[in-house]
Amino acid sequence: MQEPKVQEFNTRNGTVYIHSWAPRELLRELQIGDGLGAFWYYNAERVKTNLFQSLSNPRSEVILAYTPANMLVGYLLISSPSRRGRWRRLEVVYETTIEIAREWRRYGIAGKLLSTAVEESHSQGKIFLAEGYSWAWDLAGRELTPAEYREMWKGMMARYGFFECKTDDPGILGDIWSLMMAWVGPKVDEEKKSLFFKNLVMTV
Ligand SMILES: CC(C)(COP(=O)(O)OP(=O)(O)OC[C@H]1O[C@@H](n2cnc3c(N)ncnc32)[C@H](O)[C@@H]1OP(=O)(O)O)[C@@H](O)C(=O)NCCC(=O)NCCS
Repeated sequence: MQEPKVQEFNTRNGTVYIHSWAPRELLRELQIGDGLGAFWYYNAERVKTNLFQSLSNPRSEVILAYTPANMLVGYLLISSPSRRGRWRRLEVVYETTIEIAREWRRYGIAGKLLSTAVEESHSQGKIFLAEGYSWAWDLAGRELTPAEYREMWKGMMARYGFFECKTDDPGILGDIWSLMMAWVGPKVDEEKKSLFFKNLVMTV
Protein backbone atom coordinates (compact mmCIF):
# COMPACT_ATOMS: atom_id res chain seq x y z
CA MET A 1 0.00 0.00 0.00
CA GLN A 2 1.34 3.42 -0.97
CA GLU A 3 1.53 6.33 1.44
CA PRO A 4 -0.86 9.17 0.54
CA LYS A 5 0.95 12.44 -0.16
CA VAL A 6 -0.48 15.98 -0.08
CA GLN A 7 1.14 18.97 -1.75
CA GLU A 8 0.03 22.59 -1.71
CA PHE A 9 -0.13 24.13 -5.18
CA ASN A 10 -0.59 27.88 -5.52
CA THR A 11 -2.35 29.05 -8.67
CA ARG A 12 -3.45 32.52 -9.81
CA ASN A 13 -6.98 31.38 -8.94
CA GLY A 14 -6.12 30.30 -5.39
CA THR A 15 -4.52 27.39 -3.58
CA VAL A 16 -5.35 23.80 -4.34
CA TYR A 17 -4.23 20.64 -2.61
CA ILE A 18 -2.85 17.83 -4.72
CA HIS A 19 -3.45 14.53 -2.99
CA SER A 20 -1.90 11.43 -4.49
CA TRP A 21 -3.10 7.94 -3.65
CA ALA A 22 -6.21 9.67 -2.31
CA PRO A 23 -8.43 7.55 -0.07
CA ARG A 24 -12.13 6.96 -0.77
CA GLU A 25 -13.00 8.78 2.49
CA LEU A 26 -11.53 12.01 1.11
CA LEU A 27 -13.47 11.63 -2.13
CA ARG A 28 -16.65 11.13 -0.13
CA GLU A 29 -16.11 14.47 1.67
CA LEU A 30 -15.47 16.56 -1.43
CA GLN A 31 -18.13 18.53 -3.27
CA ILE A 32 -18.20 18.52 -7.05
CA GLY A 33 -19.21 21.66 -8.90
CA ASP A 34 -20.80 22.08 -12.32
CA GLY A 35 -17.59 22.34 -14.29
CA LEU A 36 -16.50 18.70 -13.92
CA GLY A 37 -17.78 15.63 -15.75
CA ALA A 38 -16.47 15.79 -19.34
CA PHE A 39 -16.70 11.99 -19.49
CA TRP A 40 -20.16 11.86 -17.90
CA TYR A 41 -22.21 14.70 -19.44
CA TYR A 42 -21.05 17.11 -16.70
CA ASN A 43 -23.07 15.20 -14.13
CA ALA A 44 -21.41 15.69 -10.70
CA GLU A 45 -22.96 12.59 -9.16
CA ARG A 46 -21.67 10.41 -11.96
CA VAL A 47 -18.15 11.81 -11.53
CA LYS A 48 -18.17 10.71 -7.92
CA THR A 49 -19.77 7.34 -8.58
CA ASN A 50 -17.30 6.50 -11.33
CA LEU A 51 -14.26 7.56 -9.33
CA PHE A 52 -15.55 5.50 -6.40
CA GLN A 53 -16.11 2.47 -8.59
CA SER A 54 -12.61 2.73 -10.04
CA LEU A 55 -11.12 2.92 -6.56
CA SER A 56 -12.80 -0.31 -5.52
CA ASN A 57 -9.94 -1.94 -7.45
CA PRO A 58 -6.93 -1.71 -5.10
CA ARG A 59 -4.59 -1.41 -8.10
CA SER A 60 -6.23 1.85 -9.16
CA GLU A 61 -5.20 5.24 -7.87
CA VAL A 62 -6.56 8.75 -8.08
CA ILE A 63 -4.66 11.99 -7.65
CA LEU A 64 -7.13 14.67 -6.57
CA ALA A 65 -6.92 18.46 -6.78
CA TYR A 66 -9.27 20.27 -4.37
CA THR A 67 -9.64 23.65 -2.73
CA PRO A 68 -9.32 24.43 1.00
CA ALA A 69 -13.16 24.65 0.92
CA ASN A 70 -13.24 20.96 -0.11
CA MET A 71 -14.32 21.52 -3.70
CA LEU A 72 -12.94 18.97 -6.15
CA VAL A 73 -11.42 20.86 -9.09
CA GLY A 74 -9.58 18.10 -10.93
CA TYR A 75 -8.43 14.53 -10.91
CA LEU A 76 -6.06 12.14 -12.61
CA LEU A 77 -7.36 8.61 -12.43
CA ILE A 78 -4.82 5.82 -12.92
CA SER A 79 -6.80 2.63 -13.31
CA SER A 80 -6.20 -0.99 -13.99
CA PRO A 81 -7.57 -1.80 -17.48
CA SER A 82 -10.52 -4.10 -18.10
CA ARG A 83 -9.77 -7.77 -17.55
CA ARG A 84 -11.35 -8.58 -20.90
CA GLY A 85 -9.43 -6.11 -23.04
CA ARG A 86 -6.10 -6.31 -24.87
CA TRP A 87 -4.07 -5.28 -21.81
CA ARG A 88 -5.36 -8.03 -19.53
CA ARG A 89 -2.06 -9.93 -19.48
CA LEU A 90 0.13 -6.88 -19.03
CA GLU A 91 -0.14 -5.91 -15.40
CA VAL A 92 2.27 -2.97 -15.86
CA VAL A 93 -0.24 -1.12 -18.06
CA TYR A 94 -2.63 1.42 -16.52
CA GLU A 95 -5.20 3.70 -18.13
CA THR A 96 -5.23 7.36 -17.20
CA THR A 97 -8.09 9.84 -17.30
CA ILE A 98 -7.55 13.52 -16.59
CA GLU A 99 -9.98 16.35 -16.16
CA ILE A 100 -9.95 19.86 -14.66
CA ALA A 101 -13.13 21.80 -13.80
CA ARG A 102 -13.94 24.48 -16.39
CA GLU A 103 -13.41 27.44 -14.07
CA TRP A 104 -10.01 26.09 -12.96
CA ARG A 105 -8.45 25.49 -16.36
CA ARG A 106 -5.25 27.16 -17.59
CA TYR A 107 -3.84 27.45 -14.07
CA GLY A 108 -1.38 24.60 -14.49
CA ILE A 109 -3.37 22.04 -12.49
CA ALA A 110 -3.36 19.33 -15.19
CA GLY A 111 0.40 19.79 -15.51
CA LYS A 112 0.82 19.45 -11.76
CA LEU A 113 -1.26 16.24 -11.67
CA LEU A 114 0.74 14.76 -14.55
CA SER A 115 4.13 15.67 -13.12
CA THR A 116 3.09 14.21 -9.75
CA ALA A 117 2.06 10.95 -11.44
CA VAL A 118 5.23 10.45 -13.46
CA GLU A 119 7.51 11.42 -10.59
CA GLU A 120 6.00 9.02 -8.03
CA SER A 121 8.46 6.25 -7.21
CA HIS A 122 5.84 3.52 -7.65
CA SER A 123 5.08 4.77 -11.18
CA GLN A 124 8.58 4.05 -12.46
CA GLY A 125 7.81 0.41 -13.31
CA LYS A 126 4.45 1.21 -14.93
CA ILE A 127 3.18 2.13 -18.38
CA PHE A 128 0.50 4.81 -18.49
CA LEU A 129 -1.92 4.91 -21.39
CA ALA A 130 -3.75 8.13 -22.14
CA GLU A 131 -6.61 7.78 -24.58
CA GLY A 132 -7.53 11.13 -26.07
CA TYR A 133 -11.16 10.57 -27.02
CA SER A 134 -12.37 13.54 -28.99
CA TRP A 135 -15.94 13.06 -27.69
CA ALA A 136 -14.71 14.15 -24.24
CA TRP A 137 -13.04 17.33 -25.48
CA ASP A 138 -14.61 20.55 -24.31
CA LEU A 139 -14.55 22.33 -27.66
CA ALA A 140 -17.41 24.71 -26.87
CA GLY A 141 -15.74 26.30 -23.85
CA ARG A 142 -12.45 26.62 -25.71
CA GLU A 143 -13.27 27.96 -29.13
CA LEU A 144 -10.81 25.41 -30.48
CA THR A 145 -11.35 23.20 -33.52
CA PRO A 146 -10.88 19.43 -32.99
CA ALA A 147 -7.54 19.68 -34.82
CA GLU A 148 -6.36 22.49 -32.50
CA TYR A 149 -7.61 20.70 -29.38
CA ARG A 150 -5.83 17.51 -30.47
CA GLU A 151 -2.54 19.42 -30.85
CA MET A 152 -3.05 21.20 -27.52
CA TRP A 153 -3.64 17.91 -25.67
CA LYS A 154 -0.79 16.14 -27.45
CA GLY A 155 1.61 18.98 -26.62
CA MET A 156 0.51 19.06 -22.99
CA MET A 157 1.02 15.30 -22.55
CA ALA A 158 4.36 15.39 -24.40
CA ARG A 159 5.69 17.85 -21.82
CA TYR A 160 5.43 15.05 -19.26
CA GLY A 161 7.06 12.36 -21.38
CA PHE A 162 4.00 10.91 -23.15
CA PHE A 163 4.32 10.05 -26.85
CA GLU A 164 1.74 9.24 -29.51
CA CYS A 165 1.22 5.53 -30.28
CA LYS A 166 -0.26 4.04 -33.42
CA THR A 167 -2.93 1.55 -32.43
CA ASP A 168 -5.82 -0.42 -33.89
CA ASP A 169 -7.85 0.00 -30.69
CA PRO A 170 -11.39 0.47 -32.08
CA GLY A 171 -12.14 3.27 -29.60
CA ILE A 172 -9.35 5.32 -31.16
CA LEU A 173 -9.53 4.14 -34.77
CA GLY A 174 -13.24 4.93 -35.04
CA ASP A 175 -12.64 8.67 -34.96
CA ILE A 176 -10.16 10.72 -36.96
CA TRP A 177 -9.26 13.11 -34.14
CA SER A 178 -8.86 10.68 -31.24
CA LEU A 179 -5.35 9.52 -30.40
CA MET A 180 -3.53 7.29 -27.97
CA MET A 181 -0.50 8.38 -25.99
CA ALA A 182 1.68 6.48 -23.57
CA TRP A 183 4.32 7.03 -20.94
CA VAL A 184 6.76 4.21 -20.21
CA GLY A 185 8.39 4.26 -16.78
CA PRO A 186 12.20 4.00 -16.81
CA LYS A 187 12.10 0.79 -14.75
CA VAL A 188 9.80 -1.19 -17.07
CA ASP A 189 11.77 -4.20 -18.23
CA GLU A 190 12.48 -4.73 -21.92
CA GLU A 191 10.29 -7.82 -22.29
CA LYS A 192 7.21 -6.04 -20.92
CA LYS A 193 7.98 -2.98 -23.02
CA SER A 194 8.09 -5.00 -26.22
CA LEU A 195 4.90 -6.86 -25.28
CA PHE A 196 3.26 -3.50 -24.77
CA PHE A 197 4.27 -2.24 -28.23
CA LYS A 198 3.16 -5.55 -29.77
CA ASN A 199 -0.28 -5.25 -28.18
CA LEU A 200 -0.90 -1.79 -29.56
CA VAL A 201 -1.61 -3.25 -32.96
CA MET A 202 -3.25 -6.67 -32.82
CA THR A 203 -4.57 -7.04 -36.35
CA VAL A 204 -2.21 -7.30 -39.29
C1 LIG B 1 -7.18 19.29 -21.18
C2 LIG B 1 -7.28 19.74 -19.71
C3 LIG B 1 -7.11 18.52 -18.79
C4 LIG B 1 -6.13 20.76 -19.45
O1 LIG B 1 -6.18 21.13 -18.06
P1 LIG B 1 -5.53 22.51 -17.55
O2 LIG B 1 -5.40 22.44 -16.06
O3 LIG B 1 -6.27 23.64 -18.12
O4 LIG B 1 -4.08 22.45 -18.21
P2 LIG B 1 -2.82 23.29 -17.72
O5 LIG B 1 -3.25 24.63 -17.19
O6 LIG B 1 -1.96 22.45 -16.83
O7 LIG B 1 -2.10 23.55 -19.11
C5 LIG B 1 -0.98 22.82 -19.53
C6 LIG B 1 -0.62 23.25 -20.95
O8 LIG B 1 -1.58 22.73 -21.86
C7 LIG B 1 -1.78 23.67 -22.92
N1 LIG B 1 -3.15 24.15 -22.88
C8 LIG B 1 -4.09 23.90 -21.93
N2 LIG B 1 -5.26 24.46 -22.29
C9 LIG B 1 -5.05 25.08 -23.48
C10 LIG B 1 -5.87 25.85 -24.39
N3 LIG B 1 -7.15 26.11 -24.13
N4 LIG B 1 -5.32 26.35 -25.50
C11 LIG B 1 -4.03 26.13 -25.80
N5 LIG B 1 -3.18 25.42 -24.99
C12 LIG B 1 -3.69 24.91 -23.86
C13 LIG B 1 -0.81 24.78 -22.71
O9 LIG B 1 0.40 24.45 -23.34
C14 LIG B 1 -0.66 24.75 -21.22
O10 LIG B 1 0.50 25.34 -20.73
P3 LIG B 1 0.57 26.97 -20.57
O11 LIG B 1 -0.66 27.37 -19.82
O12 LIG B 1 1.85 27.16 -19.83
O13 LIG B 1 0.59 27.51 -21.97
C15 LIG B 1 -8.64 20.46 -19.42
O14 LIG B 1 -8.85 21.43 -20.40
C16 LIG B 1 -9.85 19.51 -19.40
O15 LIG B 1 -10.17 18.94 -18.36
N6 LIG B 1 -10.56 19.36 -20.54
C17 LIG B 1 -11.74 18.46 -20.63
C18 LIG B 1 -11.40 16.99 -20.58
C19 LIG B 1 -10.26 16.58 -21.48
O16 LIG B 1 -10.05 17.12 -22.58
N7 LIG B 1 -9.48 15.56 -21.00
C20 LIG B 1 -8.26 15.08 -21.68
C21 LIG B 1 -8.36 14.24 -22.88
S1 LIG B 1 -9.71 13.14 -23.13
